[in-house]
Amino acid sequence: MVCLGNICRSPLAQGILESKVDSSQVKVDSAGTANYHVGESPDPRSVATARKYGIDISMQRGRQFEVEDFDRFDLIYVMDRSNHRNVLQLARSERDEAKVKLILNEVFPEENREVPDPYYGGDQGFEHVYELLSQASDRIIERI
Ligand code: 4NP
Repeated sequence: MVCLGNICRSPLAQGILESKVDSSQVKVDSAGTANYHVGESPDPRSVATARKYGIDISMQRGRQFEVEDFDRFDLIYVMDRSNHRNVLQLARSERDEAKVKLILNEVFPEENREVPDPYYGGDQGFEHVYELLSQASDRIIERI
C-alpha cells in the first residue's frame, strides 16, 4: 500500500487489509513515495479512524518505497495518480510495472479514481478514505 507520506492513507489501507486476511498467508505492508515522515507514527487522525473500527495501526512507522519492494511484493497498490507515476519511475521491468495498480480500480474498474489525500482537511476526510479503502480491501481479497 503506497501513498505520498505513509502517514495518512497507506497506513489505513495496510491496517484494513491486514484485519481481513490470514497473516500467515498474506503479507501486507505500506510505504510512502516521499521521505518526509520516515520513522514517524501514522497521523493521529488515521489512528483514531482505524481505532473506531477496532483496528490498531499505532505501531506502524513511516518508511519510503524502495526498488526492492518490487521483489518483496506481488501487488503494489497506490492511492493516486501521482503515487502511480512515482512508483513506476522506479520500475526496472515490465514485470515490475505490472504489479502497480491504482487501488480504487478494484472497486471502479478502469476509472482511475484516486483516494483523496486527507492530510490538509478535517476528520470527515479520514472517514471517507476509510470507507473507500474498506471496499477496495474486500475486492482485493476476492482477487488474491
Ligand atoms: P498521505 O498524506 O500521503 O496519505 O500519508 C500526506 C501526508 C503528509 C504529507 C502529504 C500527504 N506531507 O506533505 O507532509
